[in-house]
Amino acid sequence: MKKYRIAIAGATGAVGAEMLTTLEKRNFPVESLRLLASKRSIGKKLKFRNEEINVEELTHDSFNDIDILLSSTSGTLSKVFSPSAVKAGAVVVDNTSAFRMDPNVPLVVPEVNPDDVKWHKGIIANPNCSTIIANVPLWPLYKKYGIKRFISCTYQAVSGAGVAAMDELSEQSEDYLQGNEIKSVEFPHQIAFNLFSHNSSIAENLFNEEENKMINETRKIFHDDSILISATCIRVPVFRAHAEALHIELKNPAELEDIRELLSASPGIKVVDDIENNIFPMPIDASEKYDILVGRIRKDPVFENGISMFIAGDQLLKGAALNAVQIAELLAI
Ligand SMILES: NC(=O)c1ccc[n+]([C@@H]2O[C@H](COP(=O)([O-])OP(=O)(O)OC[C@H]3O[C@@H](n4cnc5c(N)ncnc54)[C@H](OP(=O)(O)O)[C@@H]3O)[C@@H](O)[C@H]2O)c1
Repeated sequence: MKKYRIAIAGATGAVGAEMLTTLEKRNFPVESLRLLASKRSIGKKLKFRNEEINVEELTHDSFNDIDILLSSTSGTLSKVFSPSAVKAGAVVVDNTSAFRMDPNVPLVVPEVNPDDVKWHKGIIANPNCSTIIANVPLWPLYKKYGIKRFISCTYQAVSGAGVAAMDELSEQSEDYLQGNEIKSVEFPHQIAFNLFSHNSSIAENLFNEEENKMINETRKIFHDDSILISATCIRVPVFRAHAEALHIELKNPAELEDIRELLSASPGIKVVDDIENNIFPMPIDASEKYDILVGRIRKDPVFENGISMFIAGDQLLKGAALNAVQIAELLAI
């Protein structure tokens, strides 16, 4: 079996750390692994299999002898460094927003559009986390019944904003309970014991960036610009795993039992819909799991052929690192 020379840019970050463990857990055929981050991380060591690997500074010369770069820094840095990686002969699986809507770059959720990997020109984009988490259960419904429109309301964990944001929730929680002053650095507002509209900028259409990502990226991944999509994205004081309420108008009628069966049989999904015991998807149950949990499946009286559901998925894994490694696996076939 061919083995691959892998580099992770942003290896010390919340997503980068999960890329490392996901490569290991899924037994990806790694020949060598280079870990890249900022100057600040020079001297750090991270464990992969039984080896301690030194973190190096990300530079334009980091990509010699690399087959696949898993890129997970910022969009700005990815725009600077990904072209150098492609020039050096690597394929970049980019977890940032830098290239997602570039018509020359495939945007891939392996359960939905794996064949798009085939037309890459050096860069393959990993979609936004809330988009991936919604797309996995929406896709089987789209294929079987068609989707005319859907509304997504998100409940997004702080780890979606990285390591520092997780620390901020811990520190603010302690300060709040001890009656100390609350300091907000990573987020614009207090996140402990509060929630607020997603901390991304508001666009001309008055949707924020995260909401527009869900709308535009879903259409690109599904290859269907006719789906009407609305989203409200909210940051909540949860450490890990995003949840979403989805309200969907199918093109054709569907029975709830058929939907449960369809979703149970679809890849990357676990139906958690225990009506008797009131057990439904929760972030703590979705954390550190690969599957998207789907429950509260019911008819939505607002739409013709309406279906509502509540879902939860680990945005560090399926929403980021796992999806990126799955793309690398498609490249390795
Ligand atoms: N968190 C999520 O759930 C999630 C989901 C989907 C997509 N994403 C996207 O994934 C990317 C990483 O997110 P994250 O949550 O992992 O962020 P993070 O925890 O803040 O990590 C950022 C990473 O980028 C590195 N970095 C920062 N400045 C750098 C520089 N000048 N040169 C080289 N490396 C630098 C950091 O290295 P140092 O440790 O050395 O600073 C760190 O490894 C972002 O683009 C984010 O939008 C995140």
